[in-house]
Amino acid sequence: MNVRMLFEKICIDLKESGINWFETEARIILEKVLNISKELIYTFPKKNVSLNEFFEIKKVIDRRILREPLEYILNETEFYGLKLYINNNVLVPRQETELIVERAILKIKENNFKTIADIGTGSGNIAISIANCCPETNIFAVDNFNEVLDVVKKNVFLYKLEKRIKIIKSNYLEYFKNKKIKLDLIISNPPYVISKEYESLQPEIYYEPITSLVCDEEVCSYKNIASNITKVLNKGAVLIVEINPRLKDKIKDIFLAKKLKLKEIIKDYKNTIIGLVFQN
Ligand SMILES: C[S@@+](CC[C@H](N)C(=O)[O-])C[C@H]1O[C@@H](n2cnc3c(N)ncnc32)[C@H](O)[C@@H]1O
Repeated sequence: MNVRMLFEKICIDLKESGINWFETEARIILEKVLNISKELIYTFPKKNVSLNEFFEIKKVIDRRILREPLEYILNETEFYGLKLYINNNVLVPRQETELIVERAILKIKENNFKTIADIGTGSGNIAISIANCCPETNIFAVDNFNEVLDVVKKNVFLYKLEKRIKIIKSNYLEYFKNKKIKLDLIISNPPYVISKEYESLQPEIYYEPITSLVCDEEVCSYKNIASNITKVLNKGAVLIVEINPRLKDKIKDIFLAKKLKLKEIIKDYKNTIIGLVFQN
């Protein structure tokens, strides 16, 4: 079987199991397993696929058609133009989060901010993107789970950012409160799925750690962040949170009650509010 025939077969298998971006995924799978460039796949070389390669690809497809996220199967994701290691202990970074990161980078550059914290860091995607674009910053990458921090460590090592990204185990902002550390900018995409929404999501979501997605009680992750926020922000410092659009008013009120000022909203390409920017 040559690459073109295999590409067509993968597309059929993925399409039949309800995967929308089947062509894109088929290309990613071929690129990764056959170790050839996307450009070569586009020109559909007549190159034959060996039996070993065929079985490697079959293993990937067998998992993917059960709707396991491709990122977990390939142990790789792309975020803000960077390739990152990933496994099923961390959330698969979402495209809309790139818009939150973009705003944070803008704020950091405008205000010459130096000390940043990414709360609920997951794979470290936000912290690493900021470190990569803002070379003057030092960043705390915070999460509450050891298995998550192992993934962050790998990615920080991959980009040789050990000197600029400090990996911290903490329940949200407790570490900073206890150590009396003050921050210029906090960015967070905390768990925000409501329990009743969780029942009716895409099948892929159920492969992701529930601790990344759902908090015990509606908006509790934001309440938790808010409980220490004024103790850890410098005067004029900025807080950027990604939000569940359905909870925007409740989340806004939690931080307004802490006397932060709502400065900006962040919308996605469908004009939905997905982030809030506050200032101390
Ligand atoms: C929605 S995920 C965000 C992951 C990543 N920052 C991103 O944007 O793709 C939320 C993260 O918050 C972490 N988390 C959950 N409870 C936490 C807590 N009590 N303290 C700190 N982090 C927590 C989860 O482990 C998870 O990595």
